This record gives sequence, C-alpha cells and structure tokens, in this order.
Amino acid sequence: MSVNNHILTAQGITKKFGGITALDNVTIDVHQGKVNVIVGENGAGKSTLMKILSGVYPDYEGDLFVKGEKVNFSNPKEAMKKGIAIIHQELNLIPYLTVTANIFLGREIEDALGMLDFKQMNKLTKSLLQRLDCDIAPTTLVADLRVGQQQQIEIAKALLEDAKVVIMDEPTSAITDTEVENLFKVIANLKKQGVSILYISHKLDELFKIADRFIGLRDGKMVGTIEDISDASKDDLIRLMVGRDLKNLYVKEASPIGEEMLRVENISLPKNREKTEFLVKDVSFSLRKGEVLGIFGLMGAGRTELLETLFGLHPKLMLGKIYIEGEEVKIKSVTDAVNLGMGLVPEDRKEDGLVLQMQICKNVSMASIDQTIKNGFLSKQLEGRLTKNYMSDLKIKASSEKQLSKNLSGGNQQKVVLSKWLATTPKILFLDEPTRGIDVNAKNEIYHLINNLAKNGLGVLVVSSELPEVMAISDRILVMGESRITGEFSQEEANEDAIMNAAIS
Ligand SMILES: Nc1ncnc2c1ncn2[C@@H]1O[C@H](COP(=O)(O)OP(=O)(O)OP(=O)(O)O)[C@@H](O)[C@H]1O
Ligand SMILES: [Mg+2]
Repeated sequence: MSVNNHILTAQGITKKFGGITALDNVTIDVHQGKVNVIVGENGAGKSTLMKILSGVYPDYEGDLFVKGEKVNFSNPKEAMKKGIAIIHQELNLIPYLTVTANIFLGREIEDALGMLDFKQMNKLTKSLLQRLDCDIAPTTLVADLRVGQQQQIEIAKALLEDAKVVIMDEPTSAITDTEVENLFKVIANLKKQGVSILYISHKLDELFKIADRFIGLRDGKMVGTIEDISDASKDDLIRLMVGRDLKNLYVKEASPIGEEMLRVENISLPKNREKTEFLVKDVSFSLRKGEVLGIFGLMGAGRTELLETLFGLHPKLMLGKIYIEGEEVKIKSVTDAVNLGMGLVPEDRKEDGLVLQMQICKNVSMASIDQTIKNGFLSKQLEGRLTKNYMSDLKIKASSEKQLSKNLSGGNQQKVVLSKWLATTPKILFLDEPTRGIDVNAKNEIYHLINNLAKNGLGVLVVSSELPEVMAISDRILVMGESRITGEFSQEEANEDAIMNAAIS
C-alpha cells in the first residue's frame, strides 16, 4: 500500500457491540501534519473509531497501519508507543498531584542515586509546556487548574511520549471561549511540528476555523471526504454528515405570548456567607406563557448558577423574590421547584441527569412516574409508549427503548435526559445548553420541540453559549456577563454584534 503522507490508516474496520454494528468496513487515512476532522451524526461511530485507533478497544475486524506498518494495539499504552495519543473528553488527571507528577506518572525520572529527580522532571515539563505556549508552573496542583488548562496538561503528556497523532474527541464542549482560542493556537503549533490531529466536534463554525480536511461517517460507514476546505461550504459539510440537504434550517414560528408565568426580582447568589462576592447579582426578569426567553453569555457568566438558584439548589444562600403566576413562592428544594411546575435540564447531564446503568425507558420515565401508572401499578406498556414517542421525536438512535443508557453514544445520552425532563410536562422549563454535543440535524428537531412546547403555553428559559442558536429560538434575549444582566434584546433588535458586546461588557 502507498505510504506517502498517511501517518495512520484504518482499513476495513468493523466493530460490533452485541447485535449493533457501530462500524461497518470503514477505511480512512490520517494525513500527516493536518487537522483531520471526523464528522457525523450522533451515533455515527466517531468515538468508537477513535477508541480503536488509540488502543482502547482491542477487538475489531480489519487492520491498522502506522506509516505503512501493520499494528495491533492491546491497550492505549501500546498505541502511545507507536505515537498515537487520545485526549478523552473526561480528562484523566490526578487532582492532588502537581502538573509535573501527572505528566511523569508511571515514567518518573530518577537520578544517579535512584531518587526521583524532580529538578530534571520540572525542567522537562517546563519545556513541554513552552511548546504549547502555556505558562503554568510545573509545580502547580492540577486541582487548582481550570478545565482548559487541564486539557493542556493532557496534551503535554502526549507530547512527552512524542505523539505523532493526537486524537481529540469533542475537546471544546466544556471549556471557555478564551480556552478554545488557546487550544486552536496549540493545534496550529502542533501542526507546524508535524503532528497530525484527529478532531471531532459538532460545532460547525469551529470546524471551519481549524479543519484541513473532513472525513464523513454515517451509520457506521465511511461516506466520503472533503479534501479541499477552501471551496467547501457549510451546506457541503452538512450533506456529508446527513446525506441530504437540510432545507428547512429552523426558523421560529411566532406563537401567541400570554400572561406572566414567572417573575424574579433581585435574585443574587453570594459566593460566601460574608456576601462580598457574587455568582449571580441582582437579576430581575419575567417570563410569559408561550415565550422562549434565551439567556446568552460566555462560559462563567453565571447563567448555570442562575438556573440552579431559581430551581432550589442553593436555598441557604439565595437572595431575592420569585413569583409564579403572580404569587410569591418560596423554593427551598428541587422538590419544591418540581411541585410548583418547574423543570430543569442540567448542563452536566452525565453527572446530574442520567443513570448510565439503567435502560433508556427507566431514565425517561423516572421523573414522571405518574404518567406510567395504571390502576395503581407501573405499566411497562405506558412506560414504553412514553419513551418511544420521545425516541422518535428526538431521533434517539438505539436498538430499542430497553437498551442500557451507558451503551448510547454521547449525543444520544443527552437526548435521553432531555426526554426525561420534557416528559414531566412542566409549566416552566429551564434548559441549560440543551444541544451541547448534539448533531446539526437533531438540533433542528430540538428547536422545533422547544417551539411546540411554547405554543402549548409553557414558559421556556434557554441558556446557550451558541449565538446562532439563541438568536434562532428566542422571542427575547437576556445577556449575562460577570454575574449580572448586561443586555436585553427583542427578536427584532437582536444582532450578533450587539449581543456579543453586551456579553463582554
Ligand atoms: N459500549 C457499547 N455497547 C453497545 N453499543 C455501543 C457501545 N458504544 C457505542 N455503541 C453504539 O455504537 C454506535 C456508535 O457510537 P459512537 O459513540 O461511536 O457514536 P458517535 O459518532 O461518537 O456519536 P456522538 O456524536 O453522539 O458522540 C451507537 O449506536 C452506539 O449506541
Ligand atoms: Mg462520540
């Protein structure tokens, strides 16, 4: 086979999980010194392929070649020896060790006397971090670093082993905008040094900034590549992922807006009991029946904390007043919030939203048991019907409603949590980053669903850091910056520049 500029080749890879074929005879080449982007809908097989390339899954059909040499990895360590490193979405560092200790874990350097040579290790760490243009001190505890910085340490770790290929599976889903910019600089730097990147993300704008080429996966099959980014459009990319044009990219239908559903006055969440610093400060707004109110802000602006506070998660610290349908209410716990007709789809769904060991149908019906009880007994039939409705509305890809949630792809897990809260049929629904990790096609479905909920009289509050999303779905937009409301726009007034300005003011 030809080697030319292909650092890594996967040939005819098939991977089955029980009866599910996650990958079906996939052949791809990774080009050296390029950002090779894998695109595909939720469940297309992207993460599975990356796990095979990096030795996480040793069992599969087909062959892997590194620079033309056939390889077989039984674990990630062996892949690393051949220069292939994966940066998982869930980072794997040990918080109470220093940066240096994490980077050298399991391959510590000893001096002539057999003692750990911290001086030497710190020095090497420093030079690795310099390669990344990163000025974190080697002796810092990992626990004191932000997520984006921890990600840099993972990358430094890969460089120590002299990685030739670095795989990044949705690396920007949990980091701030500045950290994203930093990551892109790091990627540009790695490219200059001849390192190849394999990159996965559902944020299309981001992909156009860094991709050199696209590889499309659909239903476990390789469906094509786009080699010349310069004359590719967003539509071309969507066609590669979805297999057709997405004609009706979502346009909001006007729905009648009714009386006030929720009003909050001077809501604050102090950081500490002394009330010197605040996570949320003096937030007031109202939300009406049938209205979709978007809350835009950069990561860290206090949006998630605001939703949590209103939802009864910080009853001891919270200040301010909440009114539902004109009456003042006291929300001292999540149970209070749910009883008052509120629902919250949290941002960190793996931690707060989903029981991975349970079937999809159990997760979906968990918060709305009343809908699945018939004559005093839990009805499997009702539970199944409820779940199947959401599976078809949100296009959840699974073998059946009885599949275990842990075996779903990342995006499909998100959709299960979303279903769970939609099934509670709240009057007031808070959605925190509802489409994070969700593919472009399913995003549209979710926008339609939000619109339908509003049409049915719900008040919906949507937090999002994706500006095009907020603008597409909201009747009105509040902007948060540094814990406060820094702007408000009606749908007609809203434009990207004005909103962005308010967010960074
Ligand atoms: N451990 C597993 N057991 C059973 N099925 C699995 C397992 N891991 C993945 N699958 C299935 O394989 C298919 C591909 O999943 P994969 O995680 O590779 O998708 P993906 O392209 O990364 O999607 P996403 O964009 O949602 O992250 C899915 O149908 C998924 O349900
Ligand atoms: Mg994935």
